[in-house]
Amino acid sequence: MTPLKLGVNIDHAATLRQARGVAYPNLPEIARLAEQAGAHGITIHLREDRRHIQDADVYTLRKTLTTRMNLEMANNPDVLRVALDVVPDEVCLVPERRQELTTEGGLDAAGQLDALRPTVRALAAQGTQVSLFVAPDRRQLDAAAALGAPYVELHTGAYANAAGDALRRELDALHEAAAYAATLGLKVNAGHGLTMDNVNPLLDIPNLDTLNIGHSIIAHALFVGIGQSVRDMLAAIAR
Ligand code: PXP
Repeated sequence: MTPLKLGVNIDHAATLRQARGVAYPNLPEIARLAEQAGAHGITIHLREDRRHIQDADVYTLRKTLTTRMNLEMANNPDVLRVALDVVPDEVCLVPERRQELTTEGGLDAAGQLDALRPTVRALAAQGTQVSLFVAPDRRQLDAAAALGAPYVELHTGAYANAAGDALRRELDALHEAAAYAATLGLKVNAGHGLTMDNVNPLLDIPNLDTLNIGHSIIAHALFVGIGQSVRDMLAAIAR
């Protein structure tokens, strides 16, 4: 099996900064330390409400990152303008609700084919690799394939929150969805709610390319520093 890649989501370093409206912690420096520790890419989510990552962060990080920039965004014209200007290596289209604590569900790609098509096309035309953040559900994978997105990111939130029999069911759904995605020619990433303690059962999911992990890495960094936190996660996802 090829090694799994790690995309480090640094949104919550920005959350800490925005909590006080100050200039620290310095995001490019956090990203640099994560990259130096072996992160394969840096993920940031420019939310409609700009609660953590700001437009200026996207522009600055575009210049400073030495690995890949994965920009998570809703299908929103205001954020799309930034993505078309900055040309991230990757964009992951996600659903957004203002009141949610985090991205709580997958994108209803099947229900929004017409709205998503021009966005996927515009991003692909500039060479950005498009991914759709979807639940492990065949209907959504069919929609991603119909839209011509090369990647899906499977939402692991339900798995991360489950216990007992439900945990087994969620794990089976992720395995099944990844196998089905392969039959459609889709490449598969996964993320949300993953920690060093719950990630291991995901490692043998077929056809898995990258795990995007943020909150637990930033939290663990409070104890060990960002570089060591990334190294610890890389060790946890080694296969
Ligand atoms: N992948 C996607 C598409 C997300 O929206 C998020 C949360 O921003 C993550 C991965 C990372 O989730 P977490 O911070 O829970 O690791």
